[in-house]
Amino acid sequence: MKFALQLILCFALQSLIYCQCDNTLLADHNNDNNLDILDVISMVDLVMINDYFTEDELELTDINQDGIIDILDIIKLVNKILWPQPDSVSIINIESNLVNVNIEWEVSNSPNYHIYRVYYSSQDSLENRELLHELWDINITQIEISGLSLYNDKWFWVDVVDYWGCSAESPSYKVENIEKTYELDETGNIVYSEMAIEDFEPSTECIACHGTHVEEWSKSRHGHAMKDPLFFSQWNLEQLNHPEIGERFCVQCHSPAAFVTGLDLSGYETAHDFQASSLPAVVKEGVSCTVCHTSTALSSTYFATDDLSPHAEYHLYPGEGVYFGSIEDPNPSPYHETIYSPIFERSESCLPCHDFVMRDVEAEITFTEWNRIPAFAMSGLGSCQDCHMPEKENGNHDHSFIGVDLDLSYPIGEAPQHDAVQSMLESAVEIEFGAPGYSLASYISTGETLTIPITITSLTGHNFPSGTSFSREAWIESVISHDNDIIFSSGKIESNTSLLDLNDDSLLLFTSFFLNESGDTTMSITDTYDMINKTLPALGVRYHIYEVDIPDNLSGLINIDIRLRFRALTPILLAGQHDDLLQNQPVFDMATLSAQIQVIGD
Ligand code: HEC
Ligand code: HEC
Ligand code: HEC
Ligand code: HEC
Ligand code: HEC
Repeated sequence: MKFALQLILCFALQSLIYCQCDNTLLADHNNDNNLDILDVISMVDLVMINDYFTEDELELTDINQDGIIDILDIIKLVNKILWPQPDSVSIINIESNLVNVNIEWEVSNSPNYHIYRVYYSSQDSLENRELLHELWDINITQIEISGLSLYNDKWFWVDVVDYWGCSAESPSYKVENIEKTYELDETGNIVYSEMAIEDFEPSTECIACHGTHVEEWSKSRHGHAMKDPLFFSQWNLEQLNHPEIGERFCVQCHSPAAFVTGLDLSGYETAHDFQASSLPAVVKEGVSCTVCHTSTALSSTYFATDDLSPHAEYHLYPGEGVYFGSIEDPNPSPYHETIYSPIFERSESCLPCHDFVMRDVEAEITFTEWNRIPAFAMSGLGSCQDCHMPEKENGNHDHSFIGVDLDLSYPIGEAPQHDAVQSMLESAVEIEFGAPGYSLASYISTGETLTIPITITSLTGHNFPSGTSFSREAWIESVISHDNDIIFSSGKIESNTSLLDLNDDSLLLFTSFFLNESGDTTMSITDTYDMINKTLPALGVRYHIYEVDIPDNLSGLINIDIRLRFRALTPILLAGQHDDLLQNQPVFDMATLSAQIQVIGD
């Protein structure tokens, strides 16, 4: 009686409740787009009369797909009419490291169980979740999946799907990233941190087994981030101009271990005082081994707002004797546990430090510049590491982090990374004569105007220059001479310490200028409200034309000598306060071009 009542109820509600989850409505014998008692009757007839079924009949009616149509299929159909949707199950437990996950869930009690589908996503939303696995056995309620990339928080689901393709999602199950957390107030001071400064080991603990890594890194800018006299003078100025955030703002990226543990670094006037202090070694090491190798998740661009509240996002797991890296099957280490993490091969692992937006001004956005070029961002080729941490013959990755800055306490040519920076710069761009619609003439008549077209092509993975581009100067020096007399020049400087002539209309200079609230140029990022960007985009091309009046009465050969030159720091930053460093700063030649042109007299 109860059964009959239910059937009648179902019949009444059928058009509302019978979802057609697949394209074909399985077992809808009378093709009315509903499953109801009439279909059950047709099915009973079919089973009673036939002992042979056609392909079409099987496809439409063999619900449990066992090759025959029988009472089991009838039961499934009745079940479907009674319970149009499968019941959901819940995930009981998930264990995971950064690449493997083990998921356990409740067994389904849905009469029409057909498949378990396992999904995950980096958001708690059904929209973008990714299918990980399908299981067709109701009793298998556990699965281990390896080779994933489980950085940052992840959410998992196990859906129960019936024979009609209708599915019931489990509640989402969050797997938190492996990390120690911290909380900051609006001045960047630590309110609470699970990390203590002792959790971060200094590089001296690594020398015994990773001697070459330590040697390379200690000559790098990362190892130098808290040793740079220029950093200290700018940092002190910062503390004067913005006492409310004190020393915290710059410490976020230059000494992250001090930042996330709340160690106070105020009161040091010079790099020398700081390094001679009794502060823990790892704080003096700036961007140290343990900052990078305890990272377990990816961070994002750093957006500084008007209040300058320091809030850089790190996901670290220090102090547990575990180091993470890109070796998939590391040899056992007697000193620490080693866990493979796929994030170390990705450019995002250079965040938050190498992507810095100040009040919506894209001030130092190296990562974003790279990410905007599909050739790099989409292909997975040409990561930051490919160019700045190239693989060496023994399979290790160079930790010298060659860029453009040098240790300027050495005389010109003697800094440890001098030659490597020279080759890095030589690899960055190409220059040649010519531009669309223009070529360099091979002769010219006296008194005429000589047009010298040049093309500059970037081969670099981000803008040229990038990062602190407001301190960089890359420019074309062009000198046109006859015998030893200069007829024309642009971008020529007396010595390595001289300023460029910014009023020269012919000057081609790649750099940027920060503007303060009143629109004047400033060298302080925290006073920056706007920016004039004169950098060359990644893989970009720039054409430039010089027009040179050839004097009357001149004949014979004239020489064209062109150089693309580079210095890491404009003398404006160093002159006065750091004259010793300015003296030691080399001007590199990145590329040269020359030609001779015949001048034909009257
Ligand atoms: C007693 C020797 C020893 C010491 C000390 C040591 N390590 Fe290691 N470490 C190893 C060995 C062995 C490996 C495995 C290397 C391999 O498989 O090629 C390793 C691997 C690593 C990896 C690579 C992990 C991966 O999966 O890519 C990192 C990162 C690392 N160590 C960091 C450190 C840091 C940081 C220190 C200092 C705080 C340190 N190690 C100290 C022996 C040591
Ligand atoms: C195709 C190779 C290539 C890739 C990819 C690349 N770089 Fe560079 N990078 C260079 C070269 C060459 C220079 C020196 C010329 C220059 O200044 O742009 C440089 C310079 C730099 C500098 C010094 C600042 C300056 O003056 O430009 C930083 C910092 C830097 N790169 C970081 C990164 C980061 C972070 C990434 C990934 C988002 C990255 N690079 C990707 C080749 C590359
Ligand atoms: C700025 C972040 C950063 C710093 C600082 C850093 N590393 Fe690495 N390290 C990496 C990355 C990224 C890789 C993987 C590169 C890849 O696979 O492309 C790596 C790889 C390694 C490896 C695996 C072997 C190899 O060379 O590929 C070891 C071991 C290692 N680092 C040890 C160290 C030690 C020791 C220090 C300190 C002296 C250090 N690292 C400092 C980012 C860093
Ligand atoms: C915790 C912050 C942080 C992370 C993460 C980081 N860097 Fe840096 N990086 C810095 C700072 C700060 C400097 C400048 C230090 C200085 O010059 O005093 C720097 C300098 C550099 C330079 C030298 C630039 C020059 O002017 O010569 C290169 C190249 C570089 N980083 C590459 C990378 C790459 C590649 C990664 C990712 C694998 C990375 N960095 C991750 C903070 C970071
Ligand atoms: C969001 C991270 C971040 C913050 C915050 C930050 N820096 Fe840096 N800083 C970097 C990176 C990355 C580099 C390397 C960029 C490059 O070489 O182009 C760098 C390079 C430098 C350099 C050396 C290169 C140069 O040309 O100037 C100095 C000096 C410096 N920073 C000073 C400061 C001061 C002072 C503050 C505080 C006002 C500060 N930084 C705040 C990330 C940061």
